[in-house]
Amino acid sequence: ARVVVLVSGAGSNLAAILAAHDDAAYGARVVGVVSDKADAGGLDLARRAGVAAVTVAPGDFVDRAAWNEAVAQAVDVFRPDLVVLAGFMRILGPAFVGRFAGRTINTHPALLPSFPGAHGVRDALAYGVRVTGCTVHVVDDGVDTGPIIAQIAVPVEDGDDEESLHERIKVAERALLVETVGRVAREGMRIEGRRVVLGGVS
Ligand code: GRF
Repeated sequence: ARVVVLVSGAGSNLAAILAAHDDAAYGARVVGVVSDKADAGGLDLARRAGVAAVTVAPGDFVDRAAWNEAVAQAVDVFRPDLVVLAGFMRILGPAFVGRFAGRTINTHPALLPSFPGAHGVRDALAYGVRVTGCTVHVVDDGVDTGPIIAQIAVPVEDGDDEESLHERIKVAERALLVETVGRVAREGMRIEGRRVVLGGVS
């Protein structure tokens, strides 16, 4: 399956997928990386892996709608079977979500529906939960609200700050995302209301 990954930051989730995609048995191949930030580390990772990398920066467009359309076109060029948001820190509007409906997934560093939004790790820590985790879900028109594909729990340790907790989550998150991208690519994904079924067997 042809996979396009959207990043905004360091791209450690992208790096994990790139490490897996060299194995033909994985079933997914990253064919393009798109970022909203020209200095995103994920773009350099892509280039070093020989994968096309494109920046579509909001500041280059007259408004959000024009930017959304440009992101959608940049992704379309790669003819993706699956679009993966891996640390992409902007909201993609209905124009984008609609064009890649049912084949766009996102990873979020909390156990949704708890702690959605841009500060999930900070909010979980502030709330005082003893267990948090990460979620891979289908992207729908909301923010972190789409049907859940996979989750994994991660303990909060005494003395954690946002950085130490996020790093522990990211270790689990990278493994969960790599496994989920591979399964969706090899087995396909069916969305039945709030449930997501991977593979032919329900
Ligand atoms: C990930 O934890 C992602 O869930 C969150 O930001 C982090 C991005 O990390 N939105 P990276 O850019 O993949 O290293």
